[in-house]
Amino acid sequence: MRIIWAITGAGHLIKESIDVLEKISEEHEITIITSKAGEEVLQLYGYTNTINNIITKNKNNQLIKDEDQQYSYPFSGKITEYKYDLIIIAPATANTTAKIVHGIADTLITNVAAQSGKGRIPLLIIPVDQKEGLLQTQIPPYIDKKLCKKHDPCYANRYCPEDAIHPPKIDATKCTSCKKCEKKCPENAIITDKIIEIYIRKIDADNAKHLNNIENITTLEKPEEILEKIRKMEKN
Ligand SMILES: Cc1cc2nc3c(=O)[nH]c(=O)nc-3n(C[C@H](O)[C@H](O)[C@H](O)COP(=O)(O)O)c2cc1C
Repeated sequence: MRIIWAITGAGHLIKESIDVLEKISEEHEITIITSKAGEEVLQLYGYTNTINNIITKNKNNQLIKDEDQQYSYPFSGKITEYKYDLIIIAPATANTTAKIVHGIADTLITNVAAQSGKGRIPLLIIPVDQKEGLLQTQIPPYIDKKLCKKHDPCYANRYCPEDAIHPPKIDATKCTSCKKCEKKCPENAIITDKIIEIYIRKIDADNAKHLNNIENITTLEKPEEILEKIRKMEKN
């Protein structure tokens, strides 16, 4: 099958989404598209190399970034012409979800979502904000300012291949979450696996529910459910 996999700027479910993307790239032709925030979040959580590896698996695979498109998003106009069988948005931020629900198409991913309806291509979406209430999610590495003694030079930065650690901050534009700095700070000020609790707003959970009212869209709770959906599509 020819599949478009869209990645938005959500840290939540990013690991689970990339795990499934890797699996399906063994058997299917994949075009990965990223939002501007998606591109940043992939780097922040350390998935840039994984994405590049997936692209090299098949000569027809490609990576299309929002920032490389023009205002009219020419790629979205080509999705029916190139005969994609399936489009997946995983993970889908609250922002992209809200735009799709309200028919807004002003980014690469929201344009592809709109065109998928016009071309009657099935669209699977994994919205991250599904149920109002508290949610636990992992955040990228950071420096605990209370523990950091601002050693100059910084001990942990010696192990950083990107020269990203400049106490009291980690440069988010450089850090790739490789975790080579883990436990290298004598003060244990570098935190690499922090789980935080956030509150999912009612408006975002409601938007996620409304996605299913759009003709060609199916929402799934977990990225792993995509595998079963693809198996069913292949049988039919
Ligand atoms: C580290 C990090 C993690 C984020 N995780 C989420 C998330 O899980 N869900 C979400 O809705 N937004 C998240 N955001 C915020 C989005 O990236 C932001 O709203 C962005 O404008 C979304 O753009 P997009 O929908 O075009 O990708 C995160 C931002 C950062 C910096």
